[in-house]
Amino acid sequence: MKALQDPAGETQGIIDSLGADVHRFSGKTILLAGGAGFLGRHFQSVFTRMNDGILQKPCKVISVDSYITGDQQQHGVHDPHIVNVWADIAYPLPIRQDLDFIIHAAGVASPVYYMQYPLETIDSAVQGTKNLMELARRNKKLEGLLYFSSSEIYGDPDPSAVPTPETYHGYVSSTGPRACYDESKRLGETIATIYSQRYDVPATIVRPFNVFGPGMKHNDRRVVPMFTYEAMNGRSIPVHGTGHQTRTFCYITDAISGFLKTLLRGKVGEAYNIGNAENEIAMAKLAELYTTLIPGSTMKLIDYPETYPAGEPQRRCPDLTKSARDLGYASQVDLKTGLSRFIAWADTQPDYHV
Ligand SMILES: NC(=O)c1ccc[n+]([C@@H]2O[C@H](COP(=O)([O-])OP(=O)(O)OC[C@H]3O[C@@H](n4cnc5c(N)ncnc54)[C@H](O)[C@@H]3O)[C@@H](O)[C@H]2O)c1
Repeated sequence: MKALQDPAGETQGIIDSLGADVHRFSGKTILLAGGAGFLGRHFQSVFTRMNDGILQKPCKVISVDSYITGDQQQHGVHDPHIVNVWADIAYPLPIRQDLDFIIHAAGVASPVYYMQYPLETIDSAVQGTKNLMELARRNKKLEGLLYFSSSEIYGDPDPSAVPTPETYHGYVSSTGPRACYDESKRLGETIATIYSQRYDVPATIVRPFNVFGPGMKHNDRRVVPMFTYEAMNGRSIPVHGTGHQTRTFCYITDAISGFLKTLLRGKVGEAYNIGNAENEIAMAKLAELYTTLIPGSTMKLIDYPETYPAGEPQRRCPDLTKSARDLGYASQVDLKTGLSRFIAWADTQPDYHV
């Protein structure tokens, strides 16, 4: 799996947003878990771009993935400093090189897939996190470890806790159909916190709120690629339930900038929301927006399919005060602009036209 192509020069904007901090990657070695996934491939693009004359010495990236949902197909520019290998982080990784950074973006992220693979979902967030923490513990010069949690750890928040700050403890079922994801992400956070407190592992935690952008597969089953795929092929956009449930959508360039800032600037042992609080929208309204973006689109309300886990949160919106204050994070891309870019990219992908 190689980095994505970057025709719009969006990757450069991410690098610019880091300012002088980008040079902390010069000559460094980064372990990227989940490197064949949606976010992993964008990290690869950013490191490839950094190695193209921005860093004084190139950074090395060891990207590992089990391909449980990731794609082995090659894309984009080849960078000899990035190696892609098969590995399942549920087992200890035989990595001998000294590591400077670890990014743990391996997981089963899409609800349809975590229902299909509940135990693998738990393994990557719990055993996988513990294995990466053990690796971190042996690397005494490690500068940062970024653990990908999720906004789903908040469950279905009380309306008074929306927008949701990091201090909200969550309202989550431990036995429901979403528990394999929500609860294992929560335990992953606990593991990251314990290793930072007991063994000085410089771990930070990020809680992303619905990231979208080029690189999401047509069969990913998360809402933006799913709506796009259906609308592009002339099928009605299926909206679950009443369509009143809301999400905020964060465009990939804003998100990757926020993730790297969490890795480089976040306080050890702490969690940060990354998302776009301006972009909150109900699913029925989102489907309506598609009718202006893809002419001829229609929508229909449907019952929740059996493949989709019940009990979805009714509102999801981040409070970004802490990320703005500690990291200097601010999202830039509004929903309509982001969707237009995504749809333009999807239109160039043969898979989106079948
Ligand atoms: N994209 C988002 O909006 C979002 C939101 C909240 C949380 N997250 C979290 O961020 C991380 C990355 O998300 P993404 O959107 O890139 O997901 P993705 O599904 O596109 O990619 C995850 C990658 O991890 C790999 N993987 C899964 N289990 C593994 C294992 N045991 N060992 C090695 N590789 C394994 C998969 O094959 C896949 O390539 C996930 O942990 C996800 O839960 C993402």
